[in-house]
Amino acid sequence: MAEAKSLGVVGSGQMGSGIAQLGAMHGLHVWLLDTDPTALYRANKSISSSLQRFVSKGQISQAACTEALGRLEYTSNIDELRSADFIVEAIVESEDVKKKLFIELDKITKSSAILASNTSSISITRLASATSRPRQVIGMHFMNPPPIMKLVEIVRGADTSDETFHATKALAERFHKTIICSQDYSGFIVNRILMPMINEAFFTLYTGVATKEDIDTGMKLGTNHPMGPLELADFIGLDVCLSVMKVLHAGLGDNKYAPCPLLVQYVDAGHVGRKCGVGVYDYRKESEPIKASPRL
Ligand code: NAI
Repeated sequence: MAEAKSLGVVGSGQMGSGIAQLGAMHGLHVWLLDTDPTALYRANKSISSSLQRFVSKGQISQAACTEALGRLEYTSNIDELRSADFIVEAIVESEDVKKKLFIELDKITKSSAILASNTSSISITRLASATSRPRQVIGMHFMNPPPIMKLVEIVRGADTSDETFHATKALAERFHKTIICSQDYSGFIVNRILMPMINEAFFTLYTGVATKEDIDTGMKLGTNHPMGPLELADFIGLDVCLSVMKVLHAGLGDNKYAPCPLLVQYVDAGHVGRKCGVGVYDYRKESEPIKASPRL
């Protein structure tokens, strides 16, 4: 496949906006799609301020920032992705919702387009089987935040072609990412290991072993993690963590992956972490209400 010139990103939340920014910074024309206009508005603001931070740190020039902003189009109309060479899906972590989107993308995008998913855990093979082009479906799992984190985990479904794999690898390398490759089993590499640790941190809190602060300090200073597991869960989104645990539990069939009831309760209460202002920790200024999360 020729080098991708344009990118469609579906879902303009924390991951989609970062992936769109990366595409624009590396010369691709980008359409960023979300069904929620407020999410698009937030994405526009966060991309502009993130690019401006790159400028203030001397990592890109003001001209490069302006050019990147000029390559971005924000839309709620999926038809605009018709001419994109490469699509990355970064919507809610739900297999049913993602499958519906893949069916739609399969219909409207050009036949040569690659359909990639940024899913944290869901089977690429099953998403691919919802389309008529399983050879062109792949997992391209960026880390949060995409413009900063150096890793991309590539996941091949049962039918993903070598051509699709090489085009995806080339795109990740164009973004200056290091690549790791995983087989298509629930949680892949990173979340297979990370999420049970986060879930165990919730059990540690739930069973009264220690305070949230001591759990996080223990893991930061005791194991040299830059963030404690509960802080990290708030950063990722507790709803995303819960969805991944459910996929691990169902997909690997072992009760050791059962989500901690306390994690479930936080999500039921709408306390999904930083993006809504409260999770395990409270990030609101005094008397500020909880922000509605896209997924609540
Ligand atoms: P988010 O909640 O910040 O954003 C999701 C966005 O998708 C929302 O703006 C929502 O309006 C939009 N959306 C939902 N359904 C849609 C549809 N059918 N069409 C268009 N837009 C739709 O979620 P986040 O955290 O960005 O996660 C997105 C994906 O990335 C998930 O699959 C998640 O597992 C994965 N991921 C998340 C990471 C994290 O740290 N949060 C890290 C790596 C992957």
